[in-house]
Amino acid sequence: MSSKVLIVDDEKLMRISLESQLKKEGYQVKSVDNAMDGLRLVKSEEYDVVVTDMRLGGMSGMDFLKEIKKFNAEIIVVIMTAYGTLEGAVLAIKEGAYDYVSKPFSTDELIIKLQRALLHKNTTAEVTRLRKEIQAEFEYYNIIGNSEAMKRVLENVKSVSGRDTTVLIQGESGTGKEKIAGAIHYHSTRRTCPFIRVSCAALNREILESELFGHEKGAFTGAVKTRRGRFELANTGSIFLDDVDDIPLDMQVKLLRVLQERTFERVGGEETLSADVRVVCATKKDLLGLVKEGRFREDLFYRLNVVPIHIPPLRERKEDISLLINYFLKKFVSQYEDALPDVSSEAMNAIVAYDWPGNVRELENVIEHAVAFSELKGISLETLPAYLRRTDVRTDLLSMDLSGRQTIHLQDVLTDVEKKLIQWAHQKTNGNQVKMAEILGIPRTTLRNRLIKLQGCSGEKDQ
Ligand SMILES: Nc1ncnc2c1ncn2[C@@H]1O[C@H](COP(=O)(O)OP(=O)(O)OP(=O)(O)O)[C@@H](O)[C@H]1O
Ligand SMILES: [Mg+2]
Repeated sequence: MSSKVLIVDDEKLMRISLESQLKKEGYQVKSVDNAMDGLRLVKSEEYDVVVTDMRLGGMSGMDFLKEIKKFNAEIIVVIMTAYGTLEGAVLAIKEGAYDYVSKPFSTDELIIKLQRALLHKNTTAEVTRLRKEIQAEFEYYNIIGNSEAMKRVLENVKSVSGRDTTVLIQGESGTGKEKIAGAIHYHSTRRTCPFIRVSCAALNREILESELFGHEKGAFTGAVKTRRGRFELANTGSIFLDDVDDIPLDMQVKLLRVLQERTFERVGGEETLSADVRVVCATKKDLLGLVKEGRFREDLFYRLNVVPIHIPPLRERKEDISLLINYFLKKFVSQYEDALPDVSSEAMNAIVAYDWPGNVRELENVIEHAVAFSELKGISLETLPAYLRRTDVRTDLLSMDLSGRQTIHLQDVLTDVEKKLIQWAHQKTNGNQVKMAEILGIPRTTLRNRLIKLQGCSGEKDQ
């Protein structure tokens, strides 16, 4: 769609010629000869750019500019000034005008300025949209989980966000450490400042040091110009040090100093720089264990571990699974579809029975895959990846349909199940009790006791 331009100038010839030339360039153009009419149009229609003369009858160009900005700060204003009145232009730019042209000017000159102004407007709008999208991702309502463990995690996140304390997030791969780190930043007073992420595992030692702290020109071969590090880029905001356990021991000293004194030097630099940065770290490892092994500095550990947040693996909070499935279905099902696909009970059983070594990320991928293959028919066992479909004996047992039953004799059922499993083991091992105990995952003495008990129940002979 073409951009909308409003021209405000009391010189009739100027107005007419500008309007026709800009229209030829594909702009939608209207023009008026005074600021009051201009303001009325700005308030009733949507303009991208207003091009206004500074000397107008009635309301001055400067007051007009202020009124436009008061109404909508996003409207771009380009002013036209008479030759030799540069001071007026400077004042107007201070008041929020985007640019100016001095009369007399060529249409080409104005068009170049308009194109630049519109590009700036679009970029600003895009940045605002992306920022909102990123912030929404880290809103508390987008951190899913109603298990006791996740409620506690969220409570901790809420109470720590507003403070400037260092936070250490621990959890297996895919449990949501980065999501939690983002939530802490985007709910802090630093939310409009940078949130800088550094993956300490992805970078080798030399690169990591200059990534974190920057380097001076000539500090090492290849350092052709001075470069600011992530701590400088994160200034006034937060830095997220992912896989912090991967920072080599000698660099841990430098990090400790940043945490204690908030100062550092660039690689090869002498100037001491200060960092106003909130530090959030994450690790998949047992950091205290690494301290005991001498692989992580104890003093740094205590500096980082001011507020520890542990995110439990998904297999320990399976009650979160159905909410997460719903959340991911909403994310992956096209917005044009009326309803979310059903998840069959077999599919649900297989999902719940699985151990999720890749945690929430793995579940997210499985749901995305299933949505892509479901063709609106719902999520069935067939739409799940093969490794999930391999139902184990527990799934078979747990998927019993008990809805039609009035009573169940628990002990009889358990005895029958036990007998069936022992018969299965017997068949598989030709009655070798050592092997039977092994594949059943129980000690041999336990197996022998069970066999004696079951014989008592059924009268079977020892194998
Ligand atoms: N509680 C949650 N609610 C909604 N989405 C979640 C939740 N936890 C994790 N996710 C999603 O799962 C994916 C993995 O999360 P994230 O990247 O934060 O994990 P991580 O712990 O940093 O993983 P890694 O250790 O592999 O870096 C992301 O897409 C994230 O949005
Ligand atoms: Mg991560």
